[in-house]
Amino acid sequence: MKKHLLSILGFSSIAISAMMFTSCKSDADSSGFEYMPDMYRSPAIEAYVDYGEIRGRQNTELKSKLTALTPPKNTIPYIFGKDSTQVKLMLPYFRKPNVAFRETHGLFGFDVTTSDEYLAASNDKNPYVLSAKNSEEILKKGKELFTAMCQHCHGEKGDGNGPMVTSGAYVGVPNYATLTNLSDGQIFYSIYYGKGMMGAHGSLLNKKEIWTLVHYVRQFQNKDYGKFDASGKPVASMAADSTKMKP
Ligand code: HEC
Repeated sequence: MKKHLLSILGFSSIAISAMMFTSCKSDADSSGFEYMPDMYRSPAIEAYVDYGEIRGRQNTELKSKLTALTPPKNTIPYIFGKDSTQVKLMLPYFRKPNVAFRETHGLFGFDVTTSDEYLAASNDKNPYVLSAKNSEEILKKGKELFTAMCQHCHGEKGDGNGPMVTSGAYVGVPNYATLTNLSDGQIFYSIYYGKGMMGAHGSLLNKKEIWTLVHYVRQFQNKDYGKFDASGKPVASMAADSTKMKP
């Protein structure tokens, strides 16, 4: 009886160690021997799994294809965590386009309004506040965005003489220096939904990028905009003169 037990124990310890050794591989990326693959790999299509190669079997048709789908509209990146300013910047823009913009600016599928949201936007503050610390970086990013998206019309100096205008292809681009009575909120609104001959940029730029551009537009109007003195105080006034707000 004892002998019997010993041999069972002996046999099972050999079997267990055999299993343990075969399940380990020196390749750090390998999951080792899989006893029940269906339990590890769900048959449902999951994001970020390359279904083109499973356990060495290749499926060239699927390999390196995107399995992750575009996240739903207005998804907020997880990395922003509890940073409420950043999260707010990712939320949808709450102002509606004017009903007249629907046809002229291709804003189909938008909730439109007949009330003057452009005027209402004059109260909106730039949530992306410049400080001595971040100013240089924000304006640098603004230049990058402006060069790519706006300069061809508005010109490198913001004077409305971009190549689109000087070539004679386009007219009516204003000089930013003459628009000092525009509020930050209105500049945002115009970039987001467009204005007159300018198209909407809301689908091309996120809110953070647009607010960055609002700062960049401002420095064309005041060469001291975004500069801070030694005590960290802004050299130029950061906001437009609200008493002269354009109707
Ligand atoms: C296709 C040419 C074109 C492009 C590209 C363009 N704009 Fe404009 N922009 C215009 C025109 C034209 C106007 C004048 C609109 C009006 O007042 O009728 C204008 C007006 C503006 C105004 C004044 C808005 C107001 O409320 O009076 C701002 C600010 C502005 N653009 C910023 C930008 C920024 C920033 C970009 C880049 C994201 C940009 N524009 C891209 C042509 C353009």
